[in-house]
Amino acid sequence: MELTRKHAFRGELSVPGDKSISHRGIMFGAISNGLTEVTNFLQGADCLSTISCFRQLGIAIENDGSKVLVQGKGLHGLAAPNKTLQVGNSGTTLRLISGILAGQPFESTLDGDASIRKRPMKRIFTPLSKMGAQFQCWDSNDFPEQRKETTSHCAPFTIQGGSIKHIHYHSPIASAQVKSATLLAGLYGDGITKVTEPVLSRNHTELMLAGFGAKILSTDATAAIWPEPKLEGQAIHVPGDISSAAYFIALGLIHPHAEILIQNTGVNPTRSGILKAALAMGGKAALLNERTVSGEPVADILVSSSSLHGAVIEGSMIPTLIDELPILAVMAAFAEGTTVIKDAQELKVKESNRIATVTENLRAMGGDITPTEDGMVIRGQSPLCGTRIKTYGDHRIAMSFAIAGLNADGNTTFDDEGCVTVSYPSFFQDIEKLAR
Ligand code: S3P
Repeated sequence: MELTRKHAFRGELSVPGDKSISHRGIMFGAISNGLTEVTNFLQGADCLSTISCFRQLGIAIENDGSKVLVQGKGLHGLAAPNKTLQVGNSGTTLRLISGILAGQPFESTLDGDASIRKRPMKRIFTPLSKMGAQFQCWDSNDFPEQRKETTSHCAPFTIQGGSIKHIHYHSPIASAQVKSATLLAGLYGDGITKVTEPVLSRNHTELMLAGFGAKILSTDATAAIWPEPKLEGQAIHVPGDISSAAYFIALGLIHPHAEILIQNTGVNPTRSGILKAALAMGGKAALLNERTVSGEPVADILVSSSSLHGAVIEGSMIPTLIDELPILAVMAAFAEGTTVIKDAQELKVKESNRIATVTENLRAMGGDITPTEDGMVIRGQSPLCGTRIKTYGDHRIAMSFAIAGLNADGNTTFDDEGCVTVSYPSFFQDIEKLAR
């Protein structure tokens, strides 16, 4: 793959289904009674890992390449897996499934790729242990008979579920994965489980579980869930993923000859901080045809060439655009003046350390960026020149720097552009469709 500057980007596209919502459709369908149909399901590697884990837990799942049918067996219908549940690169699979497994009267072992083995799991072990689940971490699971227990708080690990006590968990971080794992365990609890976050994180679990019949109440940054609901299978239509749309939002704003309409995109306010940031930076971005689909706000997003300027991105806005900060840093490199990203220490524990990987690649292209403890400072409009991008296997780094490369002098190549299959398998083809 080699990218160079193009004359213009024009036209319409629909980005693939939302990753967070696709995962949840499979998981909640599996623990509901009867059939769940998930349309516009994201056929990315992460969501396919979720399907494969639930198949191993005894759930029949048919996937025809866009629609997925899940034959749910109810809250207590999962079967003990007879081998390790492999989550690949997917933190969402690992953390959310742990919440469900905490309520099962059996033991499961979970593992994933080299990146997942480095990601912090203490954040879910803490609430789930308080609720009664037991965890053991292993130095490796490649040869289970030889593995040794460690105190690493990382995958691979074994979880023994069972009877669950309700808690009110005050999470030290705004994390939808921690909140969701705790609420899912709460489905099996002995009373009402509550999670309070410092700032509200994405609320797809709360919205979708309520649609399946759970009793769940959200007030500010606290969600409360009642145990043992009767969950019923649903038809879920997954909106386009705003985290994938973000690359085309940035492309439309940065490029001097661009107008792009991104159709059917989820614009849940707990996810759409990238649009607020774009507007704060002077971007021309508009929401058209706003509607609600399967309980989620959806719109078409129209973006066009803009003169961007720097902005300060911080505080409660951060969880609403946490996955978009790499592409926001690229936008900032094309904006006039300085952009400051603060309160985003979570970037260090994503698929790569995104403060480090954004800094390394932007500098390699000639950008002016200073990493900080909790974010970065980018001084815009240094001329960027193509280079070989080091993705560290992180899909969002590959896609962010592809957008930079399309607006830089020279050629941009990648050590591993294949990692985009995690969330956006047709990413490079969609760029081609819009290039003029
Ligand atoms: C996700 C939550 C976020 C996000 C991740 C998906 C989810 O992670 O970064 O890509 O689907 O719940 P955290 O919960 O760690 O913030």
